[in-house]
Amino acid sequence: MRIGVLTSGGDAPGMNAAVRAVVRTCAFYKIDCLAILKGYQGLIEDNTKQMNPRSVNNIINKGGTVLKSARCLEFRTKEGRQKAFENIKKNKIQALVVIGGDGSFTGAMIFQSEFNIPIIGIPGTIDNDIYGTSHTIGYDTALNTVIDAIDKIRDTAISHNRLFFVEVMGRDAGHLALNTGIGAGAEEILIPEENMGLNRLLESLERSEKSGKSSSIVVIAEGGKTGKNVFEIAEYVEKNMPHYEVRVSVLGHIQRGGSPSCFDRVLASRMGVYAVESLLKGKSNVMVGIKEDDMILTSLDKAIKGKSEINKNLIRVSDILSI
Ligand code: F6P
Repeated sequence: MRIGVLTSGGDAPGMNAAVRAVVRTCAFYKIDCLAILKGYQGLIEDNTKQMNPRSVNNIINKGGTVLKSARCLEFRTKEGRQKAFENIKKNKIQALVVIGGDGSFTGAMIFQSEFNIPIIGIPGTIDNDIYGTSHTIGYDTALNTVIDAIDKIRDTAISHNRLFFVEVMGRDAGHLALNTGIGAGAEEILIPEENMGLNRLLESLERSEKSGKSSSIVVIAEGGKTGKNVFEIAEYVEKNMPHYEVRVSVLGHIQRGGSPSCFDRVLASRMGVYAVESLLKGKSNVMVGIKEDDMILTSLDKAIKGKSEINKNLIRVSDILSI
């Protein structure tokens, strides 16, 4: 048997650990493993690399993805997928392991339905926005990166008595914002799932000022519901509370990089082993996930369409603790 493995979409710390696990599990079961470079783009361009256990030496601790990644527009077209399938046949690939997020899984599902090639997904994204797993690869590392950054911002915020608006990633999901907001002791947290309204934000900041706080941190997910971006929100607050010295910090892509946390390395290793073993058991069109510390499978369809709900109780916790 010959399995192809690729990383696709936004990279996430721990993807390398997953690649390593897939390659070595293949070797363990004496299956051939071919890496496809640059995600679906590499499938279309026939950009591949033969793997063996030594090809993945010294990558478990590395951020990014050694296989490279891309958001491939051509794979969204029938012609692109046809080219990809020609290369699948040419390389005698009998099954694919796709490490990526929901966009990558959507492509995988369409490809599977058109050409009937067995596919298993491994969720890798810092957003943690995939149904069927409590954690995606990269999320834990990103949480720690964000916390580290906000702790540093807090130092300067206190020194200058400033109000900081910190934007974290998450176009459609507030997991990262909500958890780092609580972990870093933010005054308020704005997430895409809830519209708190800007008035509530003002009221809250006024309350905290009255209670004696001289500096504050507000964490905002990039995909907030207010209809305003972080700079516009900061401007709005500054206009309404002119005595406040306001600063904005957009953490950006540093959240996607860095050496993966131990949690992400273990998660990625377990998912890689489970993905190959599931393929060997004849499973296809499913995604590997973790639930209460057990590996589980969810259909790709459900993984994409299902909603990865935020824990609403965390909003209450944040409200209570920002008194
Ligand atoms: O999906 C992961 C993610 O980092 C999102 O949080 C963010 O909105 C997006 O990718 C950024 O994508 P890109 O790196 O392509 O600009």
